[in-house]
Amino acid sequence: MRFASDNATRIHPKILEAITEANHGYSLPYGADAATAEAKRMLCEVFEADLEVAFVPTGTAANSLALSLLASPVSAIVCRSGAHIEINEAGGASFYSGGARVVGIPGDDGRLSSHELAWALSDFDPVRQFSRPAVLSLTQATELGTVYTVEQVAALVEVAKHHKLGVHMDGARFANAVASLGCTPAEMSWKVGVDVLSLGATKNGALAVEAVLLFDRRLAADMCHRAKRGGLVLSKQRFLAAQFLAYLRDGLWINLAATANSRAQELARALAATGRTEIVHAVESNHVFARFPEAVVDALEKRGALFYRRGGGLVRLVTSFETTAAEIEQFVAEVAAADSGNSIDHGAAP
Ligand SMILES: Cc1ncc(COP(=O)(O)O)c(C=O)c1O
Repeated sequence: MRFASDNATRIHPKILEAITEANHGYSLPYGADAATAEAKRMLCEVFEADLEVAFVPTGTAANSLALSLLASPVSAIVCRSGAHIEINEAGGASFYSGGARVVGIPGDDGRLSSHELAWALSDFDPVRQFSRPAVLSLTQATELGTVYTVEQVAALVEVAKHHKLGVHMDGARFANAVASLGCTPAEMSWKVGVDVLSLGATKNGALAVEAVLLFDRRLAADMCHRAKRGGLVLSKQRFLAAQFLAYLRDGLWINLAATANSRAQELARALAATGRTEIVHAVESNHVFARFPEAVVDALEKRGALFYRRGGGLVRLVTSFETTAAEIEQFVAEVAAADSGNSIDHGAAP
């Protein structure tokens, strides 16, 4: 019953195989290798764009580097309150940009609305007191597992561009969003006005690689130097690039994300059918937020279920390409048993 995080999965076997295959011979460092060139070519093809790319080892690094390209030390980076860049990156965006402030504004169900954004931007004092809004950062899929439609992003981008903001997308789970919407990667990025995308892979089967995709090539030289200064350029980059090659090949990235999304749907449906839980946010990617009586949460933990508590009986359940139908079934059975006060006994918890 592994629902703690999509970061807790194994490396997908095809990606591990690609790392092993790349592990031969002599290859020039710092991205001057054939695998990096090929991965970049594939990204251009998949995104239908002449983009620039930096491969980095973490999502925090990707976001921090991406945001530093669009923000100055006196900038405000506007996002939804509770966004990963605001809460969970230890001020990485501020650090890498030399001081920009991350400003969270409210939004329902993990999403900002264009109305809320317009209101917040009109409320900034442009002259003295506040930082100057320079970047809109949207998380796609959101931290609550919801997904912005292309139309919703377009409306937000329109407001952002009206106020001369650059647009960043935290796509740690971009594949889940694309799989959920059935749109193309291009439609959910540069075609709708995203300037820089942090494209995740680690949560969806890679070992440790994310790509910063830059659709405005004028910032390319800057990205290269900022990545180096930030200690984000791996000398043995071929092993990062090899992961991306396997990740993109034959649509593996979208297939893995689609599997994770389907599992989340199955889990939410099965939980709802018990009539013993409230599903709190729309399930549109690989997260299910469910509320149980606290005693049920305690019992589930005792039975070995892995998830994160969010307080008040709310738990976050995250599926991945590895989630099985059997563990969903077991979890739902445990919920029913715990709620009626008798835990099922199937021997040792997994
Ligand atoms: C939405 C989102 N963005 C970025 C990250 C950062 O990834 P990392 O932990 O690799 O720095 C995470 C990680 O959980 C995330 O959930």
